[in-house]
Amino acid sequence: MIQVSSPPAPAASETSAWQQRHLLDVDSLDRSAATRCLDLAVQMRDLRERGERLNALSGHVVGLAFAEPSTRTRVSFEIAASSLGADVVELPIAASSVSKGESLTDTIRTLERTGIGTIVMRHGRSGAPYLAARSAGARIVNAGDGTHAHPTQALLDALTLRDALGGLEGRSIAIVGDIGHSRVARSNLHLLTTMGATVRIAGPPAWVNAFRGWEGVSVHHRLEEALDGADAVMALRVQLERNAGGGVPTLREYTRAWGLTEKRMRHARPDAPILHPGPTNEGVELTASLAACQKSLIGLQVTNGVAVRMAVLALLAP
Ligand code: NCD
Repeated sequence: MIQVSSPPAPAASETSAWQQRHLLDVDSLDRSAATRCLDLAVQMRDLRERGERLNALSGHVVGLAFAEPSTRTRVSFEIAASSLGADVVELPIAASSVSKGESLTDTIRTLERTGIGTIVMRHGRSGAPYLAARSAGARIVNAGDGTHAHPTQALLDALTLRDALGGLEGRSIAIVGDIGHSRVARSNLHLLTTMGATVRIAGPPAWVNAFRGWEGVSVHHRLEEALDGADAVMALRVQLERNAGGGVPTLREYTRAWGLTEKRMRHARPDAPILHPGPTNEGVELTASLAACQKSLIGLQVTNGVAVRMAVLALLAP
């Protein structure tokens, strides 16, 4: 039976961590604010496992405005919001008046007149959620903007890694692939280094060189070098839709140089977990057997996505 209960009472020291109205990227979170979110996500996950529902957002309307395709992110935000007692509505911004010439901000302003309190937005243009946050009264949660940021993905990755490694401080995480076009990678670089990890990024020079000089980040042009002794390894999807002719000539050449295989994974620590934000192109970024092996946390990432999004929505709740 589903029970309705009050949200878990956070310790007094934790309640002041989130003063912000919006979550646009993780660069607005310091270590204690991020930790607060991850800890709350663990509580949310436990409650969900016990089949309990919360009423933290009852009477609140959460609008899902996805102007780009999404499976995991959209569905997990929907489950997260409804598990907190919110009413969830789809905001068809791609098909809405935006295509008839109304600006994004006008559309958002109009939609919030219907009583929507939080808008979860995914958009192909980097910065679109920032524009919405400047003009909207509603709270904006960035669910991925262009090549820029994907804060809830970074938070769920951090939770998954923290669980698997017992902590992030001093850990060395390798991220392999299309870093340059990846909003997931960019947000992960911010958050993992904020949490005290170091990140080795590896991929074709055109995709990684811009990140030279980031504190806590090293850039590698040989996969084995990045994997050597790594505590965990994350592969990224080649963002074909954002790769207008740059990076690698063909996917086959990408796989030959950068694809994760059992043999290559031997350079990492023997128990190093494997992550991928999905969707995966099996046989391109990693082999199908690696994606399905015991060290793969790809399924857990999806499960943790619901808990993290519940925590984010609860922490931003009015
Ligand atoms: C990522 C995204 O959309 O940015 N996927 C996701 O949110 N699960 C990564 C990707 O599309 O490659």
